[in-house]
Amino acid sequence: MTRHGNPLTIALPKGRLEEQVREHLASRGIRFEFTDRKLVADDESGRFRFLLVKNADLPVYVAHGIAGLGVCGEDVVYESGHRFFRIERFSFGGTKMCLATHADFDPDGARHMTIATKFTRFARDHFHKRGVAVEIIKLNGSVELAPVLGLAPYIVDLVETGSTLRANNLVVREELASISVSMIANPAYYKIHYARIDELAALIHE
Ligand code: PRP
Repeated sequence: MTRHGNPLTIALPKGRLEEQVREHLASRGIRFEFTDRKLVADDESGRFRFLLVKNADLPVYVAHGIAGLGVCGEDVVYESGHRFFRIERFSFGGTKMCLATHADFDPDGARHMTIATKFTRFARDHFHKRGVAVEIIKLNGSVELAPVLGLAPYIVDLVETGSTLRANNLVVREELASISVSMIANPAYYKIHYARIDELAALIHE
C-alpha cells in the first residue's frame, strides 16, 4: 500500500515494444525497472505496478483482471477474442498486417490459397469476409520460413521495417490492415478505477 492506495496494475509485452513503452512512460515521469530478471516492478511513485508478460498472453492477464490495464498491438487483442476498453492509441509501434509470398511466386497461377500465419483468426476472418476460401496453417514464429521451405506459398504476418521479408526474398502482395498499439483496460477494472485510469490516460496522451 502507498499513499495512493493499491497501485494500478499494467501488463507490458516482452520484446521490441517494451523499450518503446518504457521510454514513452518515462517521458511522462513514470519510471520503473525490471531488475534481476524480475517480472514485476513498481514505478518510483508507487502508483503503478508493471507486469512483464509474453506478448500473446497479455490479453489473458487483462481479461482475467490480473492486470487491470495492458499495452499491446491490436493484432494480439484480435487473436485473443476478448473485448477491452481502449484507453489510448499510441503513435509508436505501428505495423502493417500483410499478405506476402516468395518473390518468384505467381499468385495468378494458384487455384486456392494456403496461408501460414501466427494470426489465424485475423487471416480466416479477413478472407472469409472477402469470400475467398483459404487453408490456414498455424505457426508460432519465424513465419517467413514457410514459403521458403514449401510449407505454404502465402504468409500473413506483421511487417514493420520489411527487413525480414527482404532477407528471405519475400514480397508484400497486399497490405491487409494497419495495426496500432494501444493501452487497453479490463472493463470491470475500469468501472472501479475510472478516476485514476482517466488521470493516467491524460498523462500518457500524445
Ligand atoms: C515480427 C513479425 C515479422 C517481423 C517483421 O516477428 O512476425 O516476422 O517481426 O519485422 P520487420 O518487418 O521489421 O522485419 P517477431 O520478431 O515478433 O518474431 P517471430 O519471428 O517469433 O514472429
